[in-house]
Amino acid sequence: MPEPVTRGEVLVDADDLAATYPGATVPAVASATFVVHGGERVSVLGPNGGGKSTLFRVLTGELTLSSGALALPAGRVALVPQTERSRLDFPVSALDVALMGAVSRMPWWRRPSRADRALAREALDRVGLADRAQRTFGDLSGGQRQRVLVARALVQDAPLLLLDEPFSGLDVPSAERLRALLDDLAAEGRGLLMATHDIEQARSWDRVLCLNRVQIAFGPPASTLTAQVIERTYGSEIVTLPGGVELGILPAHHHHHDHGGHGS
Ligand SMILES: Nc1ncnc2c1ncn2[C@@H]1O[C@H](COP(=O)(O)OP(=O)(O)OP(=O)(O)O)[C@@H](O)[C@H]1O
Ligand SMILES: [Mg+2]
Repeated sequence: MPEPVTRGEVLVDADDLAATYPGATVPAVASATFVVHGGERVSVLGPNGGGKSTLFRVLTGELTLSSGALALPAGRVALVPQTERSRLDFPVSALDVALMGAVSRMPWWRRPSRADRALAREALDRVGLADRAQRTFGDLSGGQRQRVLVARALVQDAPLLLLDEPFSGLDVPSAERLRALLDDLAAEGRGLLMATHDIEQARSWDRVLCLNRVQIAFGPPASTLTAQVIERTYGSEIVTLPGGVELGILPAHHHHHDHGGHGS
């Protein structure tokens, strides 16, 4: 893959970043050193528990770093959370959820304007849910909820988007639409960081960051995703064919974690 001709400004600059949850003895993420520029699509690969969501929590400021340095020169960061955690059971419409993206960047006394509503509708349209605007969020399918959360991040209009496994639970047409949308957002100059388990998709993006509690590698996928790096990222459970062709097979223990402990 050729180097992008023009790169935007630096949006994230992490230097030997580590983060430890309160009460934990070892960091959930360590030795993270990487840069994201505007216009770049960066995949974050790693096993369950590898620290992908934790890294995003550090980038949003929800979790403070325990060592190293982090600069976010562009300021605003929008997060599309991992679906299992985004339960919004109170009766709000899809449009309301998308509108929360506008509310997050205005003073508390202001109410959403017509322009904000128009933006939220436009964002729902971009994720293919214009006709679901008035539906109750909790009644939508998992994939539709996921896309509403992408719309909310679009309304936030942040230069840096963090997407935590945004393709999980999407059907093929929705995934294709989201892929095209993410490409457009990068082409508009936004920086994208996406947690994923899809090694093949990671190969088609601009940079890849491999995390297995510590950063294993960061760089252009073609030169970074070697068999050795993949093995160190996922443990030894990757299938390697004779001749060194590695398959993007997920570890056998890949399953939905019980994320139940996160609320407290
Ligand atoms: N709120 C929390 N408090 C304490 N430990 C946590 C918390 N959230 C996550 N952890 C721990 O931090 C480590 C990294 O978890 P994280 O959720 O970042 O992994 P992940 O790469 O996003 O995994 P997955 O692919 O399953 O989403 C795990 O060992 C997890 O148990
Ligand atoms: Mg996660």
